[in-house]
This record gives sequence, structure tokens and C-alpha cells, in this order.
Amino acid sequence: MIEKLNNLFSNFTTQLEALSKQAEVLNLKADLLGKNGKVSEILSSLKNASLEEKKSIGALANKIKDDVQQLINQKLNALELEVINHKLASERIDISHLDSIKASGLYSGGYHPVTIVQKEIEEIFLSMGFEVLDGPHIEDEYHNFEALNIPKDHPARDMTDTFWFQRPDDTSVANKYLLRTHTSTIQVRGMKGKRPPFKFIAPGKVFRAERTDASHEMVFHQLEGMLVGENISVSHLIFFMKTILSEIFKKEVDVRLRPGFFPFVEPGFELDIKCLICGGGGCSVCKQSGWVELLPCGMVHPNVLRHGGIDTNKYNGFAFGLGLDRLVMLKYGIDDIRHLHGGDLRFVSQFKSY
Ligand code: PHE
Repeated sequence: MIEKLNNLFSNFTTQLEALSKQAEVLNLKADLLGKNGKVSEILSSLKNASLEEKKSIGALANKIKDDVQQLINQKLNALELEVINHKLASERIDISHLDSIKASGLYSGGYHPVTIVQKEIEEIFLSMGFEVLDGPHIEDEYHNFEALNIPKDHPARDMTDTFWFQRPDDTSVANKYLLRTHTSTIQVRGMKGKRPPFKFIAPGKVFRAERTDASHEMVFHQLEGMLVGENISVSHLIFFMKTILSEIFKKEVDVRLRPGFFPFVEPGFELDIKCLICGGGGCSVCKQSGWVELLPCGMVHPNVLRHGGIDTNKYNGFAFGLGLDRLVMLKYGIDDIRHLHGGDLRFVSQFKSY
């Protein structure tokens, strides 16, 4: 009986080795371990054996049972792995030939140039400890004008051509909600709940009801910046702007300030950079002046700080509004702002990453 069992096991191992299909393995298992299988058969024939025999043969049969089960499981796992590897190999696609992908009509995606420049600038500001904030495109009159020291009848409201929301059935909406005309809306939103010193930027889309031409669009992008603390001066503003612009253009830039008027800053400036094309000698890009107008900025008006809940006896700050589209155009030599929103894939696919 013991010999029979041992033979059974050694036959089983050679048979198992030869099998290459999961179903065959399962059949072999049933043949041995099933209800009417060979091992059960031997065990049931033990009925009439002596107690001694029962003990030794029973123990061997059980051991063989366990070993068979274990070997079967190993084999099934190995076969399963083979099936998966075979499937992986047969379904492999070679994507190293981009040309063949293009030929089949598939294109890889890319970032829009405004996104590329925006991300680059965000990273520079983040490395200088600025937070990056976001705000709503649909704004209320308070954050776009009132809180920025531009009361109802102020002539500065005419500086921007605003898209207002109207509802014929509800006059309370008129002149209350609008598409934000600048990212300065984030100044008061950003200051709320913060304790100086703090500094943040807020990039995003802005909207103006403008006639479009090569340098004007109804939708464009700004990047607002604000820094509030103790004893902030115009020289801090110049230092930050000069450092940041040198990082953006990847070379040392010269800047100058001219007076500029915005009700939310006092004093207000227009910041120019020395023309990067001609180095200041005069060319068509800088209209022979040697300087390119780049960003409006100034020291935050105390009324605006107060709307943000800041103690103006203790703190002051500066703010600026970078025109992102202008920067993108300067950086890539794009001569018409309308390309940026034209939706032409031949244009946008030239800019891939950042
Ligand atoms: N919000 C102004 C504009 O859109 C720009 C600006 C921002 C000016 C911050 C001064 C300070 O023209």
C-alpha cells in the first residue's frame, strides 16, 4: 500500500511537469484528490486494515494529499503567469516611432503658451515665498471697483469697458455683477483674514468689452501681485520687480518708473524695462525709445488696505499687475494677440512644455 502511494506520487510529479494547460492540471488534481480519486480510493480500502497500518498509511496519504495540493497550486500560478506574459508580449505597442503615430492621425497634447509662462512665473514667485491665490471670474461691483477706491461716480470706472450682467426682470442685478476687468479684485479678497507680513500673487483671465486688434483682446490674462508688511517702500517694489523680471527673461534687466494713475495705488507707476531686443539703442519694438512699458504698479492706497482689514497705522505695501499676454508675446516673438485665442492647433502645438 505504501509503495502504491509512493508510486502514485512519483507518477503524479512526472505527469504534472509535462502539462501546459490549466484545465489539464485541474483534471489531474481531480483524478488524485477528487471524491472518487486515487488517493481517496486507497484511503477507503484501509477500512479493513489493522490499526497500525491505518496510522502509518493514513499519515502518508495525508502528507501526499498536502504535497499534491501544493504542487498543483504552484503549477497553476506558473501557468497563469505564462498566460499574462504571453498576453503582454502580444499586445505590446511600440510607441518609440512618433512619426508613425502622427501618420495615424494621433497627436500628443501640450500646454498653451500663456499656461507655460504663467507656470514659470508662479514657480519664481513661489520660490520667493509668495502664495498663489485664485478668485472668481464673475465678480461683484464691490471687489472690482468699490473696495479698490473707485466709488460709483469715479471717472476711473470709464477706464475699463465692463461686461455687466443684466436681467430684464430684476433691476437689482444691474450694475452689481460683472466679468472682472482686472485681477486686482483679488487684492481685497486675498488680504481678508491674513495678518501682515504676507505676499501673494493671483494669475487669471480678465474681460473687457474692447474692440479687438493686434494688441487688444476681450479676454486676456493678468498676474496680480501684492506684498504687505511694515515700512515697505518704493525701493522694495523696484528690487522685487527687477529680480523677478531678470528671472523671467533669464538675464539682468534694467527698469525705470514713470508716474501712472490708478485709484488703488498712491503713488502709482508704470514700470518700463530697457528694451531686450536692442539693448536700449532704439528699435521698432520699443518704438525707438529704448524702453518697453511692462507693468503698472504702486504703493497700495490706505483705503484699499482698510477694506482688507489691515491696520494702516502699522502696515503698508505694494501691488502690481503683470500683463501675461504681453509677456508671452515678447518672449516668443508673437506679433498678434489674437493668435493666443484663435484655437488654431498649428499655432498652439508649437509650445510643448514648461
Ligand atoms: N489693475 C490694473 C489694470 O488692470 C493694474 C494695476 C495692478 C495697477 C496693481 C496698479 C497696481 O490696469
